[in-house]
Amino acid sequence: MSCDSRIALTKDVSLSRLVLGARRLLDGDSGRDADQIAWLIASAIDLGLTSFDHADIYGNCEVHAAFGAGMARWQGRREKIELVSKCDIMLVCANRPQNRLKHYDTSAGHIAASVDRSLANLGTDYLDLLLLHRPDPLMDADETAAALADLVKSGRVRAIGVSNFTPSQFELLASRLPFAIATNQIEMSVLKTTALTDGSLDQAQRLGYAPMIWSPLGGGSLFTGKEGREARVRAALAAVAAELGSGELVSVAIAWLLRHPARLVPVIGSMKPERLALMAKALEIDLDRQQWFTILEASEGRPVA
Ligand SMILES: NC(=O)c1ccc[n+]([C@@H]2O[C@H](COP(=O)([O-])OP(=O)(O)OC[C@H]3O[C@@H](n4cnc5c(N)ncnc54)[C@H](OP(=O)(O)O)[C@@H]3O)[C@@H](O)[C@H]2O)c1
Repeated sequence: MSCDSRIALTKDVSLSRLVLGARRLLDGDSGRDADQIAWLIASAIDLGLTSFDHADIYGNCEVHAAFGAGMARWQGRREKIELVSKCDIMLVCANRPQNRLKHYDTSAGHIAASVDRSLANLGTDYLDLLLLHRPDPLMDADETAAALADLVKSGRVRAIGVSNFTPSQFELLASRLPFAIATNQIEMSVLKTTALTDGSLDQAQRLGYAPMIWSPLGGGSLFTGKEGREARVRAALAAVAAELGSGELVSVAIAWLLRHPARLVPVIGSMKPERLALMAKALEIDLDRQQWFTILEASEGRPVA
């Protein structure tokens, strides 16, 4: 596998093998200005990360506009990158004064309005991929599917996916859409392995879609966590890294995900190019079964049965 290898989601849309998540773009006391964001975009592309994961709510709903300003400074061609975004979480924050409490909205009106606002803030006329961010218990599958199909028909969105959906929720929406759902973005890492057994990855292989994986380093807790599980996993990653002669836990943690046959697409959250470069090194690592199970055993705290 190389940094140049890509994952096809549909016949028209493919993603880079690792995707850069934008959720933390404005974190920190001083945030990031447009020049710094342009530099981050260019640095990611140099590493082969051409796909960027967003949501309308990131950074208290301010990340889209900041990234749009960064893209304008970057001055590269829009078609050289892929923009993924999400909608349906209604956040309580200063620029969403109508939201009295956090909730979900998969109505046709909200989906269309959210995408139009995302396009305006990002300064683009299409998203490569739109995901429903969270399953909405009030989702009317017919209405939601019609709204999503309209977005594709109008060219504002090139492919549709979901996030955090159970296989059953996925199949309900799929049953009403005129095209296949391109992906399910779910949480998984060496610290969070439920997708291996809850049916999500079985469904992905059965239907042939590549799942996107959020918080592939446990949101950073892999490095900072003091619990037994985190310490055990760090020790196992270090042992495997030493065996491979790579020396980098982070590369092995990402390689552990890439080893899965469902073609997982990690959405990595570091905002530091030097760390992104270590994660890109995962593409050169091919874990054997015993190395992979060493890490699973450490995560679960017991050998497999
Ligand atoms: N669909 C969903 O519901 C959902 C939910 C959450 C996230 N996401 C997506 O997934 C993306 C990634 O999530 P995430 O940010 O939680 O991913 P992550 O890659 O698991 O965690 C990123 C965090 O780990 C830290 N980190 C990385 N390498 C480190 C190291 N060697 N030592 C110490 N800290 C290290 C980063 O800090 P530095 O920046 O300092 O390197 C950053 O704070 C988000 O940006 C978003 O696009 C989606």
